Amino acid sequence: MRTILLHSPAANESRRRGRTGWWAWALQRVTGVLLVGYLFLHILVLSSARAGADTFDRVFGVAQHPVLAALDIVLIAIILFHAANGVRIILLDAGVAANRQVEMFWASIAVTLVGVAASAWLSLPLIF
Ligand code: HEM
Repeated sequence: MRTILLHSPAANESRRRGRTGWWAWALQRVTGVLLVGYLFLHILVLSSARAGADTFDRVFGVAQHPVLAALDIVLIAIILFHAANGVRIILLDAGVAANRQVEMFWASIAVTLVGVAASAWLSLPLIF
């Protein structure tokens, strides 16, 4: 019978990989639910155009508040992580690079951070 030592490097590595998988799973659900919420908000804002140009302008004026405009960067982070980790899940489901799930999780985080940094760099000077 094979004995696994609780604090062996192999056991530590297995726990680290297990936690990464849990975070990837949880973040995919949280970002997915936030995207559904954002979709409803987005449709609500756009449908205010049906109440006339003045109402639409007023609603858009609120959306252009610097704090709300800066929150778009958070939205970009949510979209980028969900999309990148979504591609990771699709690859894993297809059996592609199944032993690289941890590396692909960190690649999703890297894509998110680079995208957030680029969008902040481009948009913050226009907002403030
Ligand atoms: C590039 C675009 C997208 C990709 C590649 C993508 C991919 C995925 C994948 C692979 C999953 C996990 C499925 C699983 O583990 O079985 C998922 C979950 C989810 N996605 Fe997306 N998604 C995208 C865009 C969106 C958008 C735009 C929304 C919302 C408007 C959304 C909402 C959700 C939700 C709510 C879940 C969780 C579902 C569950 O708990 O089973 N996704 N997505």
